Amino acid sequence: MTDQAYNLRTLMEKKRKEKIDELAKDKEIKVYCVASGKGGVGKTNVAVNMAIALQRKGRKVLIIDADLGMANVDVLLGIFPSVTLFDVFFNDKSLQEAVIDGPEGVKIIPGGSGMIKMTTLDTAQQSRLAEEFMQMEGIDTILIDTGAGISMNLMSFIAFSQDVLIVTTPEPTALTDAYGLIKVISELQLKKNIKVIVNRVSGKEIALFTFERLKNTVEKFLKIELQYVGYIMDDIRVSNAVMDRKAFILEYPNAISSKCINSIADRISGISNNEIRLRTMSEVYNRLIKVFG
Ligand SMILES: Nc1ncnc2c1ncn2[C@@H]1O[C@H](COP(=O)(O)OP(=O)(O)OP(=O)(O)O)[C@@H](O)[C@H]1O
Ligand SMILES: [Mg+2]
Repeated sequence: MTDQAYNLRTLMEKKRKEKIDELAKDKEIKVYCVASGKGGVGKTNVAVNMAIALQRKGRKVLIIDADLGMANVDVLLGIFPSVTLFDVFFNDKSLQEAVIDGPEGVKIIPGGSGMIKMTTLDTAQQSRLAEEFMQMEGIDTILIDTGAGISMNLMSFIAFSQDVLIVTTPEPTALTDAYGLIKVISELQLKKNIKVIVNRVSGKEIALFTFERLKNTVEKFLKIELQYVGYIMDDIRVSNAVMDRKAFILEYPNAISSKCINSIADRISGISNNEIRLRTMSEVYNRLIKVFG
């Protein structure tokens, strides 16, 4: 009898724990870093349009423009920020002042050129920023748009993120540079798996072929697993939307490129890297400090 009661209690305890885990899972904050080896392959377009797609699926998205040299999330959306991340770090502006409401309720922190590492902040600045960061409520997805090329800053953002989304095109130069970036990530042991998006393709087959080629080379020489998350068709409406400074998913919702982005957003929401779990903005901030500090 006692055994039975004990078993029942254990079972109930297990169920309760599962429920808490389940609830906590719902509250997780996901941090994705969008990166590429070669520049101009479509990172900013992926970040901005995927942010909108994810927001429509019920996520609460924040885009951080971490392109330190040439910030361009704002340019792509026709936004003219008066306060940037640079001012938050070095001109005593608050994070709240820098956050912009983007399309569909997506929040944006515009990048500032000349931004350097967080280590240059003194303790008072760090704690002020920590407080402000934690006040940013209702964010459950952070997308970091990065600049082209391999830098220590990029590596820090990659280390900070749970998932890295590498954007490449089928062109050999883009693939070689994607491999170069993955090699550095592997050598620094920052990630065990990386997600890949193939942009500007003429068809699904080319995208798969491109991915397989990269995957074969990567998995032959490096200890990294590549995961395919989708492709985006080469579509004139993407550059048309850029010219109009609008997100293509908003300007051309029925375009093939918009459908592709939606599928990628579906895939991204369905799979997740459970190695690192972040449940509150304060956990996110602590991780940020650990990586940059
Ligand atoms: N799927 C596509 N179809 C057609 N054109 C595209 C597509 N994706 C990107 N482009 C073109 O490539 C240009 C560069 O895209 P984007 O700014 O997103 O690249 P990026 O990787 O962020 O560049 P950078 O490395 O300079 O930050 C766009 O302005 C657009 O003209
Ligand atoms: Mg860009």
